[in-house]
Amino acid sequence: MGPFALGGRPHRVYHEKSCMPDPTGYAELDALIPRLQAIPGLSPDALASEIVAVLGRKNGELTLALRSVPTRPPEERKSYGAAVNRLKVEFEQAFARRGEALDAERRSREQAALDLTMPSRRRWIGAEHPVTRVIAEIVEIFRGLGFTVAVGPEVESEWHNFIALNFPPNHPAMDMHDTLYVDAPPLAGDQGGRLLLRTHTSPVQIRTLLESPPPVRVVIPGMVYRNDPFDPSHAPVFSQIEGLAVDEGISFVDLKATLVHFAHQFFTPTTKVRFRPSFFPFTEPSAEMDVECQLCHGSGCPACKGTGWMEILGCGMVHPAVFEHTGVDPERYTGWAFGMGPHRITMLRYGIPDIRLLYDGDMRFLEQFVPAAGQRASGAAGRHA
Ligand code: DAH
Repeated sequence: MGPFALGGRPHRVYHEKSCMPDPTGYAELDALIPRLQAIPGLSPDALASEIVAVLGRKNGELTLALRSVPTRPPEERKSYGAAVNRLKVEFEQAFARRGEALDAERRSREQAALDLTMPSRRRWIGAEHPVTRVIAEIVEIFRGLGFTVAVGPEVESEWHNFIALNFPPNHPAMDMHDTLYVDAPPLAGDQGGRLLLRTHTSPVQIRTLLESPPPVRVVIPGMVYRNDPFDPSHAPVFSQIEGLAVDEGISFVDLKATLVHFAHQFFTPTTKVRFRPSFFPFTEPSAEMDVECQLCHGSGCPACKGTGWMEILGCGMVHPAVFEHTGVDPERYTGWAFGMGPHRITMLRYGIPDIRLLYDGDMRFLEQFVPAAGQRASGAAGRHA
């Protein structure tokens, strides 16, 4: 029993009426007096049945006695009736007192069973999802370099998502097999062709350049959609962060310096980085950037398929066709862009083997990524949206 428990006794003291009630002088009424005296010892069940036996509206002994008053000899009626009523009041009081005493006993038993020394249950404290934190960290790094955040719609036009980004007509990405089209007529006055769920965040490059002339430095976080299976390495809905820098005199050196700085901030200051030539319709030249595998540090493991490298983003110099579609003078301005996938980067950083774990909402998995108090990586949840 804990130090605060009050012990088994009620702290109110009930003075049971113990003195002998006066006899009534009527034998059948006086026969009830021992039962009156027995009330303080009755159990809850016995009390309930005794109340019915004595005061019950149909056959209670005192009820019947009261009902019999008119049948008694006239000279007795008054004193007999008074005796019945006096006894009735005494029974009522005794029953009420016993009821209260039983209640108090029950309460004190419950209190004694309450162990106040028992440890309390741990409170559940919510935390940012690991992907949300990774997005916030990436955005913070670019914010520190003077980039601002832009966003665009997830239901996008074919023009913004493909045509203005220099995808040739009939590019396989535009096929229904890869892209989820929306079964709705194009918006009134919109020359953008069919509506679709954007397959990347790159159309927000187009929207940004149409809205604000250079210089432009933006990062664009958002969800994208593809007609892909949900398997260990694919999800039909996932995140991307796009980057775009357009100004006079921007060169591939700016691209490399910025992205290497990003990798050193996000991973470690000594993480090795390499660029490989690649192709995207909206950049020329194009490259893919790899960082040294974060799990094996370059020696080769299953996560990096033995190569020692992990591909983290696509990038390149903005193609002049993109400038032409957005009214930016390609003789005056140049720019660079990148696109990366925070879901993928989260998997690479922590060695998560199956992307579906990032969608399940299973606390046993997610709890492993909650930073210790005071070590919150981003502290920027929600600010980037
Ligand atoms: N949009 C590309 C994709 O989803 C990624 C990408 C590559 C974006 C190169 C860029 C870039 O801005 O320059 O695969």
